[in-house]
Amino acid sequence: EKTWVRMVTAQTPTNIAVIKYWGKRDETLILPVNDSISVTLDPAHLCTITTVAVSPSFDQDRMWLNGKEISLSGGRYQNCLREIRARACEVEDKEKGIKIAKNDWEKLHVRVASYNNFPTAAGLASSAAGFACLVFALAKLMKAKEDNSELSAIARQGSGSACRSLFGGFVKWIMGKAEDGSDSLAVQLVDEKHWDELVIIIAVVSSRQKETSSTTGMRDSVETSLLLQHRAKEVVPKRIKQMEEAIKNRDFGSFAQLTCADSNQFHAVCLDTCPPIFYMNDTSHRQVKIISCVEKWNCSEGTPQVAYTFDAGPNAVLIAHNRKAATQLIQKLLFCFPPSSDADLNCYVIGDKSILK
Ligand code: PMV
Repeated sequence: EKTWVRMVTAQTPTNIAVIKYWGKRDETLILPVNDSISVTLDPAHLCTITTVAVSPSFDQDRMWLNGKEISLSGGRYQNCLREIRARACEVEDKEKGIKIAKNDWEKLHVRVASYNNFPTAAGLASSAAGFACLVFALAKLMKAKEDNSELSAIARQGSGSACRSLFGGFVKWIMGKAEDGSDSLAVQLVDEKHWDELVIIIAVVSSRQKETSSTTGMRDSVETSLLLQHRAKEVVPKRIKQMEEAIKNRDFGSFAQLTCADSNQFHAVCLDTCPPIFYMNDTSHRQVKIISCVEKWNCSEGTPQVAYTFDAGPNAVLIAHNRKAATQLIQKLLFCFPPSSDADLNCYVIGDKSILK
């Protein structure tokens, strides 16, 4: 008997929030308490590459992550698989003798192989790129007709921040109002060419994995932090509008001020949570060094040169106004963290590798 395999490979970069998502109003559907805005990294760096395959000879759905088999039984994977299967269409490839009717997809099984092109030890968000890539690749495999915003609402059910990785450039995740989550999706604000002089530098100051998962952390914050309620209701809606303006006008001063303030408020919400969450705890002196270095420099220049932002882990993401600012930043960082000291600094430069040479 003749069998066949149909395969699709996709590559998806990770994204870094400049206005943070923190807190869910619905944990199962992953619906946030506020809008968020992120910048998607260049696909050449920090991305996930995923191959999905389907064949009548596969007897169950299976997945490998960085070469190690992982379970697909968790709700998040199941939700993504179910939602894409429900949108699968007929596929015909006469050359390979493949014909899959719409209804066949319910019975067919898939295999997934996913790789991150960055060291997992870096402790950098990988679930965003991972789920976005999985959903995108499955949609291509099953010829789903949905556009990237519609797919983002599915990726969102894998990991909230994943919905923003379906687009390049600057992306907004609209929180939405509908109870079924159908309007909680990502839209592109501007593409990657709009503000291409920005240089993103990821300063890895600690390779330790985060101690509090974002799921537990968000749940505790929603239940206990009054600051989170104030942030979601009063602060973020205004910041989203200001950030959209800043991005549209390439106004780096406002962009940097909003990005730093939002990162600091996110970590303030974490401290305001019971029990408190210390994402920058064990190496906090290094984060404080980076923040003070940037704040001092921005102040002395009169207009900001660099923005910093920290996610649910200790590593800094620095966004420099341009190449010149990025070069100066790296010199300053090397001065703060000399190569011989205990605090080994590892920089990933996104956008222009030649700066490190
Ligand atoms: O998508 P999650 O559950 O990994 O949450 C990500 C939360 C932050 O990275 C801290 C903020 C954000 O908007 O990406």
